[in-house]
Amino acid sequence: MCGIIGYIGEREAVSIILEGLKRLEYRGYDSAGIGILKEGKLSILKCKGRISYLQTLLEKKQISARIGIGHTRWATHGEPSSRNAHPHSDFSRHIAVVHNGIIENYQELRKQLEKEGVRFTSETDSEIVPNLIKKFYEGDLRKALRKVIKILRGSYALGIISVDEPDKIIAIRNDSPLIIALGKKENFIASDIPAILAYTRKVIYLNNGEIAVVGKDDVEILDKRGRKVAVSPEKVSFNIELAQKKGFKDFMLKEIYEQPSVLSRILSQYVKDNRIDFKTSGISPSLLKSIKEVVIIACGTAFHAGLVGRYLLETFSRLPVWAELGSEFRYRHPVIGKKTLVIAISQSGETADTLAGVREAKRRGARVISICNVLGSSLIRESEAYLYTYAGPEISVASTKAYTAQLTLLYLFSLYLARVKEKISAEQSKKVISYLKKIPQAQRKVLEREAEIKEIARKHLHFGAFLYLGRGVNFPTALEGALKLKELSYIPAEGYAAGEMKHGPIALIDEYRAVVCIANDSPLYEKMFSNIQEIIARRGKIIAIASEGNEQIKRLIKEVIFIPSVEPLLSPLLTVVPLQLLAYYLASLKGYDVDKPRNLAKSVTVE
Ligand code: AGP
Repeated sequence: MCGIIGYIGEREAVSIILEGLKRLEYRGYDSAGIGILKEGKLSILKCKGRISYLQTLLEKKQISARIGIGHTRWATHGEPSSRNAHPHSDFSRHIAVVHNGIIENYQELRKQLEKEGVRFTSETDSEIVPNLIKKFYEGDLRKALRKVIKILRGSYALGIISVDEPDKIIAIRNDSPLIIALGKKENFIASDIPAILAYTRKVIYLNNGEIAVVGKDDVEILDKRGRKVAVSPEKVSFNIELAQKKGFKDFMLKEIYEQPSVLSRILSQYVKDNRIDFKTSGISPSLLKSIKEVVIIACGTAFHAGLVGRYLLETFSRLPVWAELGSEFRYRHPVIGKKTLVIAISQSGETADTLAGVREAKRRGARVISICNVLGSSLIRESEAYLYTYAGPEISVASTKAYTAQLTLLYLFSLYLARVKEKISAEQSKKVISYLKKIPQAQRKVLEREAEIKEIARKHLHFGAFLYLGRGVNFPTALEGALKLKELSYIPAEGYAAGEMKHGPIALIDEYRAVVCIANDSPLYEKMFSNIQEIIARRGKIIAIASEGNEQIKRLIKEVIFIPSVEPLLSPLLTVVPLQLLAYYLASLKGYDVDKPRNLAKSVTVE
């Protein structure tokens, strides 16, 4: 939700923090700020808007230091503004704090502090933290912080500096991600790896409740009671160039084009001689043998992958499967237990609603595995086993390659579970795998139609609303296509099961409504074709996704995106690609920043 970075060492802290914030901008970008300590003085510079505005301010001020903290914000409490930007300091300006998360009981704590004479300058929840530390400070920041976290409720990743102890940064996390990165005569704190990759690959993943005391030459990790924790730093594998644009205009377009290679990478990681090998994942047949039902928990695009996963798992394993939104599952008193397998799907592994759903499921005795794209993330560390999606860093807020990577893992896992349950033969599994191996090339064929799709987008720029229709395993594709459009172009768009049209939505159809119909070769094609005719009869403007060679559609509809004909059950890996490009171009032709859509952030680490 927000990005945090801190630096202490012998180099210029301001430029390092600024560069780190730029690599964290995808986590939130409505305001930014930096706080430094120099010659016993705390200086804070912050502003509304992108990090480039902060950079301009810093260039004018020419501030420099060897220790500092920085923050790029996605507003939760208090509108985007310079006074609500972080870092926040206590009223005596001795302590500065950057915070990612939500302090749920901040109002009562703020009222108490105001009664004790504290004057607040912002509307944020975060500003109570430096004032509470100040209140409990008696010469030891660590002790003061331990007292503060006893009264805080909610999620937080905190970076703290103080004029009273200028030789260290103190950091702590609870349900919001934070890493400690180790350099030579310099150390860092950060919300995510891209912020520090240019300097070091040695990181420590903080656990909930642990306090890090970060000096320039050493780092100490303490548990909740102040005892030293033995830690072994991990080496980060992914490299920064993967997180660069590589000549594409936007990260999103680059990530759409990466999908065929991501799918091939996943198959090479998990399929050996046409057999599925999950040994590295910690998933064992014994874990699955006792399972009687599956619940998939996810949010947003990952939830749409879960809806496809439901079809796949039921088709192959013949177990009952539900797909649930994390934000709903956690409050509905689910009837689950130790015979339930929960599959949590998350690109970031930090989505608060998904994590809360997982914790609720574990509390009720369910077994939890995850499908995730960030090693060391909270979700992976809270799962019994996990399937890493190998998609590489997904920087664009709109999830594309992570989605098809999640789908690919769901295909493989469905086959694996079905084999454990002896519901399909080894031959049947190999057959599906052979179909899967054809998908990367089919995706490349779709990507060759980019210019055509861009032209279709141009012709539909003036439409004020879109409807996306799909059936069966492509009903979730309709939901995903609609989500891509609305989150990127801010055009109202709704995904619907095509069979539902006659139960109401068909009233929406007229010449002002664009309707995207997913009509690829499938057992439900004839039904879909009938829907298309109903829409034409009401003068709806159709954009069809159809399989190559479909003359019937070609004769009837002007705007058709033809895709290779593939095994229908695998078609979601293909039908989503033109919808990603359609949304990309409807937004970019309107001049929007497709990598950083308004009001959104890459990882929603608050409820
Ligand atoms: C998808 O394009 C959105 N950015 C959003 O719906 C996202 O899928 C959702 O917030 C879940 O994120 P996660 O996969 O990191 O858990």
